[in-house]
Amino acid sequence: MVDLKRQYEKIQDEVDKAVLNVVRSTQYINGPEVKAFQKELESYLRVRHVVPCANGTDALQVAMMALDLKPGDEVITTSFTFVATVEVIALLGLTPVLVDVDPHTFNMDPDAFRKAITPKTKAVVPVHLFGQSAHMEPILEIAETNGIYVIEDNAQAIGAEYIFSNGSKKKTGTLGHIGCTSFFPAKNLGCYGDGGAIFTDDDTLAQKMRVIVNHGMETRYYHDSVGVNSRLDSIQAAILRIKLRHLDNYAEARRKAAAHYDKMFRDQPGLTIPARSDWSTHVFHQYTLKTKGIDRFKLQEHLMDNDIPAMVYYPVPMHLQKAYNDPRYKEGDFPVTEALSSSVISLPMHTELDEEQIVYIGRTVLSFFK
Ligand SMILES: Cc1ncc(COP(=O)(O)O)c(C=O)c1O
Repeated sequence: MVDLKRQYEKIQDEVDKAVLNVVRSTQYINGPEVKAFQKELESYLRVRHVVPCANGTDALQVAMMALDLKPGDEVITTSFTFVATVEVIALLGLTPVLVDVDPHTFNMDPDAFRKAITPKTKAVVPVHLFGQSAHMEPILEIAETNGIYVIEDNAQAIGAEYIFSNGSKKKTGTLGHIGCTSFFPAKNLGCYGDGGAIFTDDDTLAQKMRVIVNHGMETRYYHDSVGVNSRLDSIQAAILRIKLRHLDNYAEARRKAAAHYDKMFRDQPGLTIPARSDWSTHVFHQYTLKTKGIDRFKLQEHLMDNDIPAMVYYPVPMHLQKAYNDPRYKEGDFPVTEALSSSVISLPMHTELDEEQIVYIGRTVLSFFK
């Protein structure tokens, strides 16, 4: 689905040198590379604070810990997401409250969010799925009216911009109280192992999160709060500093590939190309088609037979997962999510897709319908 090798080869000299420098420096944890990356990401995102951490799942967990959410508090998110979003809510003893998504953008339906609010609702986690922002203006407004914290799960949309109705723009992940991201290798800004970060404009929350990621310790061996061990390695930070400089070009390459795919699939009955919302740029973490009237697993098999990977993100929505089985939810509760889970398929999408590959993938997809 991604071609990390060819991407690495293009920046190999820089990356090899940077990694070797860290190895030779022996400053493997919280070294100067981590600090420098933090500052550079703050400036790229136009946000006051970036708190680097070990992965995107930890980022979500630390965000919820910093907000002092207590067992029993309800946190609203979508059922059509990667498990991490719901996993941390459950792990902290909070109650995940799931809502349906918009059928075109696959992101949180603001009305569904509004309807799910109860006196126990403390936070909402909109997920910017597949590279495009959730409709944040209404979500922020509803959250503010009801005194609810907004934690953006920006693992799949780093670099995307939210476009407000007055035309102003903000990077996704910097609109709510806290934004979280993942630097998993296949992400738009991926390192060569695990990594993550948390963003906020709030000085107090930033300080709290810096303490939490370091065992709840501000002064060495004095622990004022329960924390975790969640740090970004210096080697990963050094790699991320290089890749951050390419992030906008990477997004452009993804958008070009998506536009080319669109042209090939636009008129094919049985396929719906990804929608672009008016309120967000799209960084195409995934290129996800909706299918109708076909068995998409047969399409996946057809592609695999022709050496083309294809994936289904996500085949089982959270409310139908065994681990998150909750008597409040049953099949049929989230019709849009369920329809998407049983009809979407994602094609290879990355920064190194060339014309020849796109045409080959496109023709192979279309040949399935002949
Ligand atoms: C939407 C979403 N949230 C959270 C995560 C968790 O990130 P990580 O794998 O770095 O823990 C991911 C990544 O896989 C994701 O796609």
